[in-house]
Amino acid sequence: MVKKRVLSGIRATGRLHIGNYFGAVKGMIELQDSPEYETFYMVADVHTITTPYNVDELRKNRREVVIDYLAAGLDPRKSVIFLQSDVAEHMELALYFSSVVTIARMQHLPTYKDKIKQYPKDNTMALLNYPVLMAADILAYKAGLVPVGVDQDPHLEVAREIARKMNEKYGTDFPEPQRFKTKGEYVPSLKGEGKMSKSVEGSYISFNDPPVEIYRKVKSIPTATQAGGEMNQGVNALFTLGQLFIPTQMDAFKHEFDKGTLQFSHLKDAIAHGISQELRPIQERRAQISEVDVDRVIKEGAAKARETARETVNQVKKAMGLS
Ligand code: ADP
Ligand code: TRP
Repeated sequence: MVKKRVLSGIRATGRLHIGNYFGAVKGMIELQDSPEYETFYMVADVHTITTPYNVDELRKNRREVVIDYLAAGLDPRKSVIFLQSDVAEHMELALYFSSVVTIARMQHLPTYKDKIKQYPKDNTMALLNYPVLMAADILAYKAGLVPVGVDQDPHLEVAREIARKMNEKYGTDFPEPQRFKTKGEYVPSLKGEGKMSKSVEGSYISFNDPPVEIYRKVKSIPTATQAGGEMNQGVNALFTLGQLFIPTQMDAFKHEFDKGTLQFSHLKDAIAHGISQELRPIQERRAQISEVDVDRVIKEGAAKARETARETVNQVKKAMGLS
């Protein structure tokens, strides 16, 4: 049986949070554990340099993400786990792909517009090229399935366009990658507005938050003082988290909410407890992982990833008249 390929990655901007876990990592684990798939999971450290960053922090964070991957259950015996910067083929392929992508198409992407609003002085080529590099990450392995959160849909659309254009123009055989949807594809911010994100302070619960911190953060979700009636955004966020972490208890809480008798503090306590329970095994596993383990995973992963990616790049070079 020919296994279908899967690729995903997370930027090295800090420790993972429960949004990353539900939107991406849970899907990564599900696919890794299915015999139908060959899974490639990387730390997108090169994507991290597309917006302003601190060199020492990047050096530290790319290892932190590998450790979080392992602690969450990614298994180097089942998946190829690697650093993007270790496989130069991604960057090479991105340059070849950039010849079938217009500047106008890249400038219109909502993700690009958001970032230049956030960093008006850092409107760089690397940022404009972000989706092209992401397409190269995926297509270097001819991956047809990508476990990521819903916010990545515009980037996957670009990857499909590039696959199509390359196939039409040069007769390559790239698949059109689809997103692998998870139940928690959109985890809301604790602030009640937008999605949970590392870049918004106070919006997220990190993998390393101890129970007291989790309780404090869940308590901070803004809920209406009076129960009943329309759900405000904070209440909505609370119910979404409830569905993810304590699904069996949510019918009862919803019933109380509808009757107007719900005490938000009860719901918040139950959710904080559910989150703590889910994170505990991850935190325990993390404590067992040594620096030597990480070095080995990164080294072996790079060698395996390179082998597959090189094959694709060689085909592309040949098809484009470059060899
Ligand atoms: P952040 O926004 O915290 O910087 P990233 O952009 O690095 O997170 O996202 C890494 C992965 O986690 C992507 O697949 C993304 O779709 C997913 N993800 C991030 N935040 C969330 C969220 N709040 N809900 C669901 N998935 C998310
Ligand atoms: N853009 C993704 C994010 O912000 C990270 C990423 C880079 C990625 N390359 C990828 C995700 C390839 C999936 C596949 O989260």
